[in-house]
Amino acid sequence: MEEKIYDVPSEWTHRAYLDDAGYRAKYEASVKDPEAFWAEEAKRIHWFKEPTRIKNTNFGPGDVSIRWFEDGVTNVAYNCVDRHLHTRGDQVAIIWEGDDPSESKKITYRELYAQVNRMANIMRNRGVEKGDRVTIYMPMIPEAAYAMLACARLGAIHSVVFGGFSPDSLASRIQDAKSAFVITADEGLRGGRKVPLKVNVDAAIERVGAGVVDHVLVVRRTGGAVNMVPGRDVYYDEAAGLVSDDCPYEEMNAEDPLFILYTSGSTGTPKGVLHTTGGYLVYAAMTHQYVFDYHDGDIYWCTADVGWVTGHSYILYGPLANGATTLMFEGVPTYPSISRFWEVIDKHNVNIFYTAPTAIRSLMQAGEEPVKKTSRKTLRLLGSVGEPINPEAWEWYHRVVGDSRCPIVDTWWQTETGGILITPLPGATKLKPGSATRPFFGVKPQIVDAEGNVQEGATEGNLVIADSWPGQMRTVYGDHERFVQTYFSTYPGKYFTGDGCRRDADGYYWITGRVDDVINVSGHRMGTAEVESALVAHPKVSEAAVVGYPHDIKGQGIYAYVTLMAGEQPTEELRKELVAWVRKEIGPIASPDLIQFAPGLPKTRSGKIMRRILRKIAEDEFGSLGDTSTLADPAVVDDLITNRQNKR
Ligand code: PRX
Repeated sequence: MEEKIYDVPSEWTHRAYLDDAGYRAKYEASVKDPEAFWAEEAKRIHWFKEPTRIKNTNFGPGDVSIRWFEDGVTNVAYNCVDRHLHTRGDQVAIIWEGDDPSESKKITYRELYAQVNRMANIMRNRGVEKGDRVTIYMPMIPEAAYAMLACARLGAIHSVVFGGFSPDSLASRIQDAKSAFVITADEGLRGGRKVPLKVNVDAAIERVGAGVVDHVLVVRRTGGAVNMVPGRDVYYDEAAGLVSDDCPYEEMNAEDPLFILYTSGSTGTPKGVLHTTGGYLVYAAMTHQYVFDYHDGDIYWCTADVGWVTGHSYILYGPLANGATTLMFEGVPTYPSISRFWEVIDKHNVNIFYTAPTAIRSLMQAGEEPVKKTSRKTLRLLGSVGEPINPEAWEWYHRVVGDSRCPIVDTWWQTETGGILITPLPGATKLKPGSATRPFFGVKPQIVDAEGNVQEGATEGNLVIADSWPGQMRTVYGDHERFVQTYFSTYPGKYFTGDGCRRDADGYYWITGRVDDVINVSGHRMGTAEVESALVAHPKVSEAAVVGYPHDIKGQGIYAYVTLMAGEQPTEELRKELVAWVRKEIGPIASPDLIQFAPGLPKTRSGKIMRRILRKIAEDEFGSLGDTSTLADPAVVDDLITNRQNKR
């Protein structure tokens, strides 16, 4: 496909905060004198004590430490709620759209204040203090936002676990964070189906064992009957009736932790990515303002789940710090009809819409009619996040959803980065479908080769970031060494993103996908090692190797090669059983799309599985397997190719 360029629409050059010259000047300033730049930007939030020490960061080699605004004192909940009461107490903070289109509500900043305080008081009365970890396992209901902000108010560290994770996954996160307090709902509701959240919490706590979780706060969502353990479990509505809606906020140091969010990596169990207070909030707020060109009065909708970082930074913290109106959607894009997204946009007059390529690709399949029958005239800007967006999906999003009128901001970032790092600004950046374009302020991307040599000009290689930005993660919770090893040892002195990237002659960045053993399934990050260890935990499985393969809708699918125990037969029934097993062990997002039973896996003579070969076979690239002569048994490759699973 020939490379297309979309100019900034003329109305945007008047309306936007910045045009191209404005972007360039501000970017130059941000990298030339980060101290001065961020000292000024820090003023966008309220500090009880303003920071005087702005940047104190060290990427190694050796010690890695990242501190921003380190002598500043603030509180995130104060900034997202209290601060707005005088100026916009009656403005809607959260528009909640339920799974069922007949259910929605609007929560003003004043109501948000009361709700957050009540939630905080309930927690405080049960002993939650600054620094304690609170696990939140919730559906997309306003109480999820209240819970997160209540933690921030008290200085407790929240760990939100996506409601689609299994009891086992929840248990390991509760355990790692040593979280004594859990907030959940009786059941979730998605696409008309119930999700047994409280049942999962009970199972998780059982797995964690006695003496860890003391309190479970249960929000009634469906009213379904659940088991309540006396002395441990309490219903939110009952507890809320007994407390006041005033709760003092904790004064937090800029570097006090705000939240932990578990994410998958190449190896081992998911890591607790730790974000802190001041830098995170400044960065989330600033990116939300500029990337989405957010102005007072705009209605903004990010379709992510609060269980992922996108939900943290761009449903909650960024928008609320800016006093925005943010829409929170409980349901799915296809329920009750395939037009649901567009109907919600019309119902609430949404101006800015931020979603994932996988949603676009799946909705694209139903054609234009379900979109075109809605108005969408309030839409001004579209956004994309979570995985590379292929140019075909980009064009469709632009032409059909945005009526060729709305720019698309393709935002590249990660759980670790806290906020968007590479992105267009709608009034400033010419767009190329499939490119995340240029770095945000203060971000210094570099492309390096395998040896770490920095490549200049138009090039391709691995993406690293050469210096710190305020929203960056600070450590892996409880394991600083793992933080240093994972992100700063491949290319000493630089933050390694794990992504491959191309830079074109215009200096535009094109993310090509992960270069490590992480796969991106429908925008959800999955470690191949996690799926493998779930598979080998099955009594009939002797060995498993998991790779990604290109999938039309999901971006990448999960391809599992499985060797069975001696004497076990590879049957269709067992295949289904293994898929169900992985769903149970990790959660539905980890379900293998294809399982190939393999009598042997390609291994080197020292016993290492050659994933490169497995990846090529999964991609149907039989001609480019590379050198197989070093394999202990080269014949296994022929067998794997012969039995290559047909793509569904
Ligand atoms: O590979 C990149 C991909 O998603 C990874 C980060 O996943 P996660 O931490 O779950 O955060 C997702 C939401 C920020 C990245 O390493 N990714 C994310 N956004 C893009 C992307 N790949 C290409 N283009 C993007 N816009």
